[in-house]
Amino acid sequence: MERTFAIIKPDATAKGFAGAIISRIEKEGFKIVGLKKMHMTKAEAEGFYAVHAARPFFNDLTNFMCSAPCIVMVLEKDGAIKAWRDLMGSTNPKDAAEGTLRKEFGESIDNNATHGSDAPETAAQEIAYFFSQLELV
Ligand code: CMP
Repeated sequence: MERTFAIIKPDATAKGFAGAIISRIEKEGFKIVGLKKMHMTKAEAEGFYAVHAARPFFNDLTNFMCSAPCIVMVLEKDGAIKAWRDLMGSTNPKDAAEGTLRKEFGESIDNNATHGSDAPETAAQEIAYFFSQLELV
């Protein structure tokens, strides 16, 4: 069984979409093995997105991620990494397919409702960044 790391970003959390997104996660057959609401610091957001440090959107991205609370989760399913990325849809909600979370709940490439790991190595790193073993059940 594969695990992936997911975030319901500050935009979707503030708009009250968390319940609908979590309901969809369960309907799609993911098991939620970790979940918490948190308000990242700027330093935590910068550490999490360090891979994007050289990108022009890095400062806006990390400011946004620490602007309000978000919900971080660990999801488990066969093929969880791809399944969660498919459920989220394209990074830019304008390009996201009908029925995907970013199409339904995202409004722009910056405020795109959700995040998901892109590979097994990053999933392991991202899970360990926010969760201890004791928090995964
Ligand atoms: P996420 O999957 O969380 O990974 C990095 C985030 O940077 C991405 O979602 C977008 O919200 C944001 N972002 C802003 N501009 C871009 C861009 N040009 N390309 C990719 N991601 C971007």
